[in-house]
Amino acid sequence: MIRSVKLLALPLAFGLAAVAMAAAPHRPVAAKARAIARGHAFAEAHCTACHAITANGSSPNPEAPPWDDIANRPGVTAGTLAEFLADAHNYPAAMDFTVERRAIGDLAAYMLTLRRPGYKPTR
Ligand code: HEC
Repeated sequence: MIRSVKLLALPLAFGLAAVAMAAAPHRPVAAKARAIARGHAFAEAHCTACHAITANGSSPNPEAPPWDDIANRPGVTAGTLAEFLADAHNYPAAMDFTVERRAIGDLAAYMLTLRRPGYKPTR
């Protein structure tokens, strides 16, 4: 009896997974919007003690560049940001923590939303 319930439950679980996958939006735009939202939430929780993380903000820690300054530097890409964040546990000393791999992509995606044509970084 128990055995036959299991046999039924397995295809049912697969069926539900298939339905869930079909229902989830898998357009790249939606995935990117979710990454940006996660990056923003992560930054709110972990980075705002020092950095201004939104446009035109001033950082609570004057040593820490506001993120629109960082994002608008020439040559900054998701790749350069990810590279910096992957090493953030040892440089600069004030940022002595490790950012998880997944959060790195999210943070980079969020930071790049601060890029504006014609923006001149203050430093
Ligand atoms: C304890 C304060 C502090 C916290 C918290 C902090 N930062 Fe920083 N961050 C700094 C300082 C100070 C600098 C500037 C260091 C320098 O230019 O030498 C900096 C610089 C940066 C830079 C630019 C590096 C460059 O190329 O000049 C990035 C990107 C950055 N932080 C990302 C983050 C992220 C993402 C978080 C949260 C996960 C975070 N920071 C949290 C203090 C902090």
